[in-house]
Amino acid sequence: MTESTEVFDADIHAKAAEIIGRYPVARSALLPMLHLVQSVQGYVSQEGISFCAEQLDLTDAEVSAVVTFYTMYKRKPCGEHLVSVCTNTLCAAMGGDAIYKKLAGHLGENGTPLGHEQTSGTPGEQGSITLEHAECLAACDLAPVLQVNYEYYDNQTEQSAVELVDALRKGERPQPTRGAPLTDLKSAEQQLAGFFPDEEQFTADVDGPSAAEETLRGATLAQDRGWVAPAMRDEEANHG
Ligand code: FES
Repeated sequence: MTESTEVFDADIHAKAAEIIGRYPVARSALLPMLHLVQSVQGYVSQEGISFCAEQLDLTDAEVSAVVTFYTMYKRKPCGEHLVSVCTNTLCAAMGGDAIYKKLAGHLGENGTPLGHEQTSGTPGEQGSITLEHAECLAACDLAPVLQVNYEYYDNQTEQSAVELVDALRKGERPQPTRGAPLTDLKSAEQQLAGFFPDEEQFTADVDGPSAAEETLRGATLAQDRGWVAPAMRDEEANHG
């Protein structure tokens, strides 16, 4: 079996030490550590599990239990891009199921649709895409939505979703509807671990308008009409 030291170089060891230093107890660093190992291989390999276990004084079984619990950690190599289509209730009713089916067929080969967490193209290579069903992406007011490497593309249709993946396959990076500019999955994983290639670029890398007009509509309406929430009971007591 490949030793974790062969896969994770000195730079990754230094980054791991930095992550661990952020926490009072080493084991608390497991989630960002898993994003760090995923940024190297595009998934959490057995070497990645052993690396985290060694660094955090945990067993492989303890790390595996966490990896297999959270869907953001992948156990098979992923594509350059991860396309997550929300097929939870509201998005499904608004067209998310149809979008997923369309993309699965479009990205499949020889009439066989791509399955959940399967990859079109060679994992890691430019233009390769992993497709997955996603649970509610917390953007129901913009349904149906999908994400690429966790960046939002709102109000999708079957056609816009196909155009999006075709652009990704050509090496393009269409601007998300809101949020940060699109990057590739491994770079997004490095950001999730808390590392940005150029700290001065931090704002450009991760920042961007995150609230949509639809999301703020209730607050805007209340503001325009001068509506305020009733006082909390303890506030009344303090003033009474
Ligand atoms: S159901 Fe799709 S974002 Fe909530």
